[in-house]
Amino acid sequence: MKIDILTLFPEMFEGVFSESIIKRAIDEKIIEINLVNFRDYTTDPHKKVDDTPYGGGAGMVLTCQPIFDCVKALKTDDSKVILLTPSGIPYKQKKAYELSKEKHLIIICGHYEGFDERIRTIVDEEISIGDYVLTGGEIPSMILVDSITRLIPGVITEESHIDDSFNNNLLDYPTYTKPRVYEGLEVPEVLLSGDHKKIEEYRKEESIKKTKEVRPDLLGDD
Ligand code: ADE
Repeated sequence: MKIDILTLFPEMFEGVFSESIIKRAIDEKIIEINLVNFRDYTTDPHKKVDDTPYGGGAGMVLTCQPIFDCVKALKTDDSKVILLTPSGIPYKQKKAYELSKEKHLIIICGHYEGFDERIRTIVDEEISIGDYVLTGGEIPSMILVDSITRLIPGVITEESHIDDSFNNNLLDYPTYTKPRVYEGLEVPEVLLSGDHKKIEEYRKEESIKKTKEVRPDLLGDD
């Protein structure tokens, strides 16, 4: 999968994409990530990419031209263009699965007070990572890339995400490792029993219990 990230701050991504699973996916050529500074596409002699809002108001607004031209230069028939914005559709694991099957993502990171409304006309999907406002789309785009990459076949073992939280609208069951007792806290007996059927039942029950307690809203999700 090819991922083009349109950002004014490419350096923000350095650490995140040069460690751990994402780095491995890049090294193994399972994903290719290009950080594209759309300032390089501005026709403004002073390299400006933003301007004051019509009608007045605080802050600066990203202009159409650099982003339109940048997307035009990168887009092919296989591309899906995503705009990150707090007013987008809330991001869920189901969407991560959907996007992990795409060939080419173009992700636009907004910044400052916002972007010219007409930029929406060149976008396929608008995504929000949660009901809070960040300084820009850079961190949300890292979240998208991370959550999508781990679902691409060959990146991590399939079993690792079969039991992920949010699959079947349930949170993950609790896991334990050695030692059996730590500061008086014991590992549940059933996990030591070797009885796989019982272990499976226990995990399912715990998943349901946890979801009811913490995220009852998930149980009614489609
Ligand atoms: N940009 C700023 N806040 C955001 C959010 N919550 N989701 C996506 N993009 C954003």
